[in-house]
Amino acid sequence: MKIGLFYATDTGNTRTVAKMIKQQLAEAEVKLYNVTKAGAEDLESCDALIFGTPTLGDGELPETLEAFLPTLEGANLGGKPVALFGLGDQVNYPKEFVDALGILYRKLKKLGAESNGFWPLDGYQFEKSRAVVNGKFVGLVIDQDNQEELTEGRVSAWVEQVKPVLLGAAAMAG
Ligand SMILES: Cc1cc2nc3c(=O)[nH]c(=O)nc-3n(C[C@H](O)[C@H](O)[C@H](O)COP(=O)(O)O)c2cc1C
Repeated sequence: MKIGLFYATDTGNTRTVAKMIKQQLAEAEVKLYNVTKAGAEDLESCDALIFGTPTLGDGELPETLEAFLPTLEGANLGGKPVALFGLGDQVNYPKEFVDALGILYRKLKKLGAESNGFWPLDGYQFEKSRAVVNGKFVGLVIDQDNQEELTEGRVSAWVEQVKPVLLGAAAMAG
């Protein structure tokens, strides 16, 4: 019974949020994996998966996550529940806000993984985002650059939202 939280990070913000999520999921065994050090066997050893990524470049995936995609494609995700979160900067990148979250969502969808934990757009100001599908973000969105004071509340509300599906899967696997 294990939840794997796989994250990419450039300056450490995504790791900080990953640690907050782990804290909020105290009743489960949550293991954090930097994607630079994770393999297919790590994905396969977990009963449920959380992925977190910042958006870098011009609305792009971090290179480290790009490099991890073949591993993701090669792993058997076996219908495990998946939840996503993304970090971005809505003030400096209003037209590419958390685009990487949207890119990752589509990759996972292609691999047959249906993500949980869609998140409302309320409280964010931006023009465009690839992470918006049917009027919602495809995962938790965090802006440490401009709204750090909201992060803890957002994380705890989102964890409450995804807990039943993530823990349900972990519990069923015994
Ligand atoms: C070079 C660079 C490019 C960025 N490009 C984007 C972007 O296109 N869209 C966005 O929402 N945020 C963008 N950001 C903001 C980061 O996603 C944000 O600062 C995030 O918290 C960084 O997370 P990390 O510390 O885990 O790397 C960019 C930041 C940097 C430094």
